[in-house]
Amino acid sequence: MGRVQDKVVFITGAARGQGRAHALRLASEGADIIAVDLCEDIATNAYALATQDDLDETVRQVEKLGRRIVARKADVRDPAALKAAVAEGVAELGRLDAVVAQAGIAPLGPRQGVQAFIDAVTVDFNGVVHAVEAALPHLPDGASIVATGSIAALTPATVDSPSNGPGGLGYSFAKRQVAAFVHDLATVLLSRRIRVNGLHPTNVNTDMLNSDIMYRSFRPDLENPTREDALVSFPATTGMDIPYVEPEDVSDMVLFLVSDESRYVTGMQMRVDAGGYVRKRPQLPTF
Ligand SMILES: NC(=O)c1ccc[n+]([C@@H]2O[C@H](COP(=O)([O-])OP(=O)(O)OC[C@H]3O[C@@H](n4cnc5c(N)ncnc54)[C@H](O)[C@@H]3O)[C@@H](O)[C@H]2O)c1
Repeated sequence: MGRVQDKVVFITGAARGQGRAHALRLASEGADIIAVDLCEDIATNAYALATQDDLDETVRQVEKLGRRIVARKADVRDPAALKAAVAEGVAELGRLDAVVAQAGIAPLGPRQGVQAFIDAVTVDFNGVVHAVEAALPHLPDGASIVATGSIAALTPATVDSPSNGPGGLGYSFAKRQVAAFVHDLATVLLSRRIRVNGLHPTNVNTDMLNSDIMYRSFRPDLENPTREDALVSFPATTGMDIPYVEPEDVSDMVLFLVSDESRYVTGMQMRVDAGGYVRKRPQLPTF
């Protein structure tokens, strides 16, 4: 028996990066997956997002583990598309036990206009709400909801620094709202024993981090910083003198939160940050 044997988990942003890693970790422990991804770019987001090929590769790798997956191209800004994807997934896989709402963008850059702020908020926050909304009618008592924020939700003056432009402010705002949302939603769902937890990674070794715009964010002192230049600054957001964690490090926390091992864990802000938070801001959070 796997740790999430025969559970069905809905994951947003599952075509690559952390979303794919979560799908594979959960599948390796016996889960079936409902996966969605935009599979298109967003104009204010300077690096390319995932493609249909990426989503197909997630499907291939989950099936290789002997588990089932229903994958749909859907935008987390579109509640109707998410509801349709979840309904189709539940019809095929028979149930829904957990949500991992983690699709996200980082539309950083000083030259991006106010639309970058709006895009960060609608994808990184509204997208989480829409995923939960789509899943709730299908979730049984005792289900699990996990929403990915960021260490940026808990540490001010990082992604929201002026050099990141309006999209950096939008990213930080959205991630703070994710943290507040899971906190209050956990209260609302106590009577049904549905757990709701936030998951806040530090730098993660994915395409979001390995992008020119992120290199500039970490090295605003250079005009065209390379990954090598950025590597020097990456450890500023961790505490253990490492540049980043791997997606699989975050997946292990997702697995715990989806499994029944965490059946009495709710309203938590779980950090996979190699100590980045305690290093910067040692006082206890206010919520
Ligand atoms: N990489 C990091 O350093 C880091 C740090 C902290 C938090 N995070 C958060 O982790 C989550 C996952 O990011 P990642 O690191 O795997 O980056 P990633 O860019 O590899 O993955 C994000 C995925 O979300 C998808 N996506 C984007 N907009 C979407 C939309 N509107 N609808 C559906 N899918 C959409 C993308 O296509 C992509 O597959 C994000 O919420 C991100 O903010 C990342």
